[in-house]
Amino acid sequence: MDVALKIWRFDSSTGERALKEYEIDAPEWATLLDCLDIVKDRHDGSLSYRKSCRMMICGSCGMRMDGAAVLACKTRMYDIAEAGHVPVISAMGNLPIVKDLVVDMDPFWAKFKAMKPWLQPGYERPEDGREYRISQERMNVVHKESLCINCGCCVSECNAMESDPEFLGPQALAKGMRFVGDPRDGAKVERLEEYNSEHGIWDCTRCYFCNERCPKGVDPRDAIAKLGAESVKEGIDRDMGAKHAKWFVKSTETTGWLRETELVPKTQGVVSSIKEMKFALSLARHGKVPPPFPPHVARDVGEARNLHKLVREQDRQGALGHVQGERALLHLAEGYDHARDPYGEGSFPKPYLPEEEAQA
Ligand code: SF4
Ligand code: SF4
Ligand code: FES
Repeated sequence: MDVALKIWRFDSSTGERALKEYEIDAPEWATLLDCLDIVKDRHDGSLSYRKSCRMMICGSCGMRMDGAAVLACKTRMYDIAEAGHVPVISAMGNLPIVKDLVVDMDPFWAKFKAMKPWLQPGYERPEDGREYRISQERMNVVHKESLCINCGCCVSECNAMESDPEFLGPQALAKGMRFVGDPRDGAKVERLEEYNSEHGIWDCTRCYFCNERCPKGVDPRDAIAKLGAESVKEGIDRDMGAKHAKWFVKSTETTGWLRETELVPKTQGVVSSIKEMKFALSLARHGKVPPPFPPHVARDVGEARNLHKLVREQDRQGALGHVQGERALLHLAEGYDHARDPYGEGSFPKPYLPEEEAQA
């Protein structure tokens, strides 16, 4: 098949940058990485890019296609070439470019190392002296995080890192969750304290680009949410982000609604809220602020309260509850099947299905 590519070339020694177009003949099964190999072998040997495994496991070939991060060896070119589209290939974002499609991964690895990506001693050895066995339920909490291949595609797309390069970032925090969620790790609270500092979990803008671009389904934003839930569960709630999240929970439990009028004082404190009074009054004048009293209570608020009670009884306020929620959403998306209950038949309360209520 005929494939055309535009590639941003860059030489860090001269600072020269140029968009070059290549037209190549490639087999129909070719991936973007195969196409780059053809360009380098037959058209322009000076093109630089990284690769190793060619099978989506080493994480070397992260780059951008049309402005979004991809693994080159995972990206099939057939449909793109058939549509006559000429994609623009460039280096990943948020990392300094060394040459062409090669970025300097040192800042990435520095954050990775800062996570202390190994188990800290502290767990009790099993009485029989044999291996430490972890339940499937606990493994589910870190399953996705364990799939990370350190490719950097999430970091490339991270909005928060664009404005604050010191932000720990999606890959490092997903790695952090891998160890926070491991029951054998002896430094859970110390890790959470660290991730709650400046440039930590609460600086994430929740843009979800990292989830969207991760080629391995790690869903780093979800890992950050789990770290937030674990932090609040451990009483680490000094950050405004944590206070904000706590008010969401409290508000839905007491009224079934999010009481936004009280969100600012509950999150920022009274003094700070007084400073915002002028803005609040102007919102009120335009009908954007519902009166806080009497609070609007949902008709079926009992359901919301029971749900909160159940979560507390089952001790699922942290990452465990988050994973259960993910699974419930999956059931809603794919249909409910008791045979696939993760903790045995009937262990998973049947999720609420809107269409069933409509039928009733
Ligand atoms: S969701 Fe957070 S961590 Fe993920 S890309 Fe957006 S800002 Fe970065
Ligand atoms: S979380 Fe996904 S995108 Fe980010 S480094 Fe790991 S595998 Fe790559
Ligand atoms: S070459 Fe290893 S992930 Fe693409």
